[in-house]
Parts: sequence; structure tokens; C-alpha cells
Amino acid sequence: MCGIVAYIGHREAYPVILKGLKRLEYRGYDSAGVALLDETGLNVYKKKGKVAEMEDSLIGKALPAKIGIGHTRWATHGEPSDRNAHPHLSASGKLAMIHNGIIENYAQLKKELVSKGYHFNSDTDTEVLLNFIEDIWLNNHCPLEEAVRIALKRVVGAYVIVLLNSEDPDTLIAARKGSPLVIGIGKNEHFLASDASPIIEYTKEVVYVNDYELAILRPDELILKNLGNEKITPYIQKLDLELSAIEKGGYDHFMLKEIFEQPQTIYDCLRGRLDADKGTIVMRGVENHLEQLMNANRIIMVACGTSWHAGLVAEYVFEELCRIPVEVEYASEFRYRNPVIHKGDIIMAISQSGETADTLVAIEKAKEQGAFIFGVLNVVGSSIARASHSGAYTHAGPEIGVASTKAFTAQLTVLMMVALKIAAAKGTISQEKYIHLLNELHEVPEKVEIALELNDRIKEIAAKYADTHDVLYLGRGYNFPVALEGALKLKEISYIHAEGYPAAEMKHGPIALVDETLPVIFVATKDSYHEKIVSNIQEIKARKGKVIAIVTEGDEMISSLADDTIELPAADEIIAPIISVIPLQLLAYYIGVYKGLDVDKPRNLAKSVTVE
Ligand code: M6R
Repeated sequence: MCGIVAYIGHREAYPVILKGLKRLEYRGYDSAGVALLDETGLNVYKKKGKVAEMEDSLIGKALPAKIGIGHTRWATHGEPSDRNAHPHLSASGKLAMIHNGIIENYAQLKKELVSKGYHFNSDTDTEVLLNFIEDIWLNNHCPLEEAVRIALKRVVGAYVIVLLNSEDPDTLIAARKGSPLVIGIGKNEHFLASDASPIIEYTKEVVYVNDYELAILRPDELILKNLGNEKITPYIQKLDLELSAIEKGGYDHFMLKEIFEQPQTIYDCLRGRLDADKGTIVMRGVENHLEQLMNANRIIMVACGTSWHAGLVAEYVFEELCRIPVEVEYASEFRYRNPVIHKGDIIMAISQSGETADTLVAIEKAKEQGAFIFGVLNVVGSSIARASHSGAYTHAGPEIGVASTKAFTAQLTVLMMVALKIAAAKGTISQEKYIHLLNELHEVPEKVEIALELNDRIKEIAAKYADTHDVLYLGRGYNFPVALEGALKLKEISYIHAEGYPAAEMKHGPIALVDETLPVIFVATKDSYHEKIVSNIQEIKARKGKVIAIVTEGDEMISSLADDTIELPAADEIIAPIISVIPLQLLAYYIGVYKGLDVDKPRNLAKSVTVE
């Protein structure tokens, strides 16, 4: 993970880097640091903790450098501490480097360096790679870029690195494999970052660096090369992103802003695709491969975390509507197994960031075995987008809160449209049901808006349960993955232990947990399992558990049983998860806020998990 920013040009580098690091803090916030090169030499400032702590330590310091690199860390090798913070300095003190990724063979490289007399000041793999580069550079008397190239040929793992050389104050050298790197092109200036958010206020012209590419940046020059030292023509793209999209816009937290954006993001996801009046869904990524998708023997959803939950909902939807068998795989398990993949299998890779390392490697492996990869992704031009054969973007806009909210509902919306298109083409859905579901999807933004009006009621419920230590989330059918998602949200935002279960599975074990102190949240909107879930609620009440029920408006039966009820507008059971997750997102948010936690940056987490 980790966020990297670098600048070279005519501006003061520190303010550019500082602002960029704040925007990239979602990628990690264990420590932050900058290296700046000016007439006084190469100076490194770094501190354990969030970017603001590093900023405070530098208040009042003159930092006139026009070239610099900065880093916000999510710890992998070595605990969060000042000494493990990036940038690292090489043994000679001539080079400073930032790194995002993991050097898997660092132990071997370290051994070689130690035998040559090197000492290390940190526990990081980064310092090892830096000294490995320096060792080649100093011994071969070659240009630094050549030393980087030689070193990277020996490296196993993932990296984006950026090097600052005190002997060459007009050049930055960067390289990428497996972690994201964007270059912003300004007038006599260049920006480097893990994503475009630190860059957009200066320029909209960007180059996405590919794996095994090396960039040599000077204020007025960008040279891209491959590791074979051949020049590559940079492909300059225009960013389709506005600054307002990555700011809080008056909300206390990004998470709350993103929850409240959902009527709009779902609308944006449907816009230009679904036309309920005409009964059409336009999705080029599906149409261009319709035969293949219709004739799939099997669909394998590959994802992590919240995106995996979206895949679980999709399993129910695709099997019901398209009659295609679906498997839902944790990318981290799938990639290390020896999965059986047949020609005719479709892999659906679901990812908000499009950079999740496990998902990326999983699809690359499946591709090698002949699978067709369809990406359901939020970030345009991301690594998974580029590795997919086809796909559909979710158009939810930048999601900055570490807890995924609007990306999840947009993923569900896209997956439902894809399923409907395939089902219509295959003839596995009646025209009547197809039109009904199109209308239902069309109404989702409005129903989500109504669900958000329950904000104050949910705040009250959150206050009531904020001191609890365990929560059980239960649901059946389409709402079972929603229960899992609700539990994940609570865990990550409030640090309260929470578990999601299929409601009927409760009696096979978890019911032993139930007593008068245990809140049990039922996702129990009206569906074909309704009577069954009413019985499950009775079972909890009989054991004195506290029941919080998410129900369809007017459900007097459940309301009479539950301690607290949240009523949602009626929706078809297939579509319902997009709406029933909203109160669970708000509940987790407010409990986290009541507990005084940093909901946008929960401990130990990062937004984009680019390590395995
Ligand atoms: O970017 P991705 O969708 O691939 O990320 C997958 C998970 O890391 C992500 O959903 C994570 O579980 C979130 N923190 C959940 O809120």
C-alpha cells in the first residue's frame, strides 16, 4: 500500500508534496516523511503517525526546495516508527528513496549487502533495495538510472520507487512493477503520485506508468524506458476528475459524504445505460462479448472485502436470472490454489480501486489458463482495468473513506445490469420480469434517498448500542451478503467485534452467543424468506437477545417483535440489497463517531491493498 508523491519544477516542492500526501493518506497512515533537495543539501524529515504530525514538526522551517519526494506508509516490514518511515537514505547519504510495495527477496539481498559491510538503520525492505541500487551505482560508476535497471532485474516483488540523487538536483528517477504510478505533466514541472488526486489541481495531463517501466523526470523532460533500456513513447491521457470530487464538501468525514452521495452515484451508474421506458440496457463491455458471456459454463467472482460481498450478492442474482453456475472466490485464496479453470469460464474481477494485489494476480493467473476476464471496477485506467479483457465501470467517483460504501452499491448496480442483459439475451428471464426489474433499478436512487432520511433515527440507535462489544448480523437469501457487509463495516469503523451469518445457520452454533447483552441485527426486508426470518427473530427474542430489524415499511409483524426497527421503502428482493445496506453503513459510521474514532482512517487499514 503506501502513498507516494514527488515533485520537480519551479514551485516549492514541500507544499505540493504535503497536500498530495494528505490526499493519499487513505493508502496508509502509519508514518509520513519527505526528502527535499536544496542548496543546503539533501534533507529528510519523517515521523511516526499521520501526515499532520509530520507537518506539525516542520512548522516554521524554511523548506525552499524545488525538488522532493514524500511518502505516507502502511507498515509491512518493520513496525510503524520514525526509523522505519520513508524516505530512506542510502549508506553514503547521497540517495533518498520512497517505495510502495514489497520486495520479496529482500532477505537474500540484505545478506549479500551485510557481507559487504552494509549496516541498516531500519527494518524495511526499502532500505535494502536502496542500498542494493547504490552498491551497483558506486561500484560500476554508471549512471544512476542504469544502476536502478540492473537492480530491478534482480528484484522479486512489487514496487513503485522514486529516487532523489543529491548529485543530480534536476532529476527524479521512478520505476514501477505491480503498484500504481501516475505522472502529471505541467509546464516545466512534473508530478508523481500513487493516484491522480495529488496532481489534478496542477494539471490534467497524465501518463500512467506500466509495469517494468522506468521514468526519468526533469522539469522540462520526461523519458520513459523499459528495463531493457529501450525508449517508450509516453501515452498522455486527459484526467476526467474534478477537485471537488476529492474534497469533503461540508461533511465531517469522507465516509458520511460518500454514504450521502449514493443516490447520485447510483444514478450516475445507471445513466446512459438503463432506459426503463424503452426496456433497454446499453453496456458496450457486455454487448461486445455477449456470445461469450451467454455461453459461459461458469462465472467465478474474484474479489476481496466489500467487493467480495458484492460478488456474493451477484451469485444469487446471476444464478436466479441467467441460470449460470457462479462461484465466489476470495482472490487471496484463489491465486494460491491450483483452481480448475475451463475454457468458457468467465472471471468477474470486482474491485473499487482496481489495484488490489490479490485480485490483480488472481486474474493474471486465470488469464494464463485461458479464462475471459470481465472487470467491475471504479477506477478508470487502474491495473485491473488494464488487465481485463472487458468490463463495466461503476462510475461512483473517488472513494476516499477507507470503508467502502458508495463503491459497493455501484458494484451491485452494475452487476445487476450485467445479469439482466445476459438473462435477456439468453431468454432465461420473462419479458415481464425483465421490465419489472428495470423499473425497480430505475427507482433505486429515489429509494436510497428515502433510506438516507432515516439518518437521525439511525443516529439514536447508534447511541444506544455504541458501548456494545459484540454484534451479530443475520440475513437470508439476497440479504445474507448484506449482513456480512454490515458486520464488516462495524468491525472496521468501530473496532466492535461483529459477525455476519445466514440467519438459519445461527442454530448451528452462533445462537450460543445470544443473551440479553447481545444486539442482533436482522436484515429482514420483505422477500421470499420473510416467514422464515420471522421465526429466526423469535428464536433470538426467546433467548432475550436485543433485536434491531431492517424491514420493509409497514412490516408490523417484525416491528412488534424487534427492540428497534428501521423501515425501508419496498423493493424487489433482487434489488433490495442496494437499499438495505444503507442503514448498516450509517449505523457503523455513527457508532464509530460516538466512540471518538477516526472513521475515515481506521487503525491498521488502508484503502488500497496493494500488498498480498
Ligand atoms: O479496492 P477493492 O475493492 O479491491 O478493495 C477490496 C477490499 O480491500 C475493500 O473492500 C475493503 O474490504 C474495505 N475496507 C471494506 O470497507
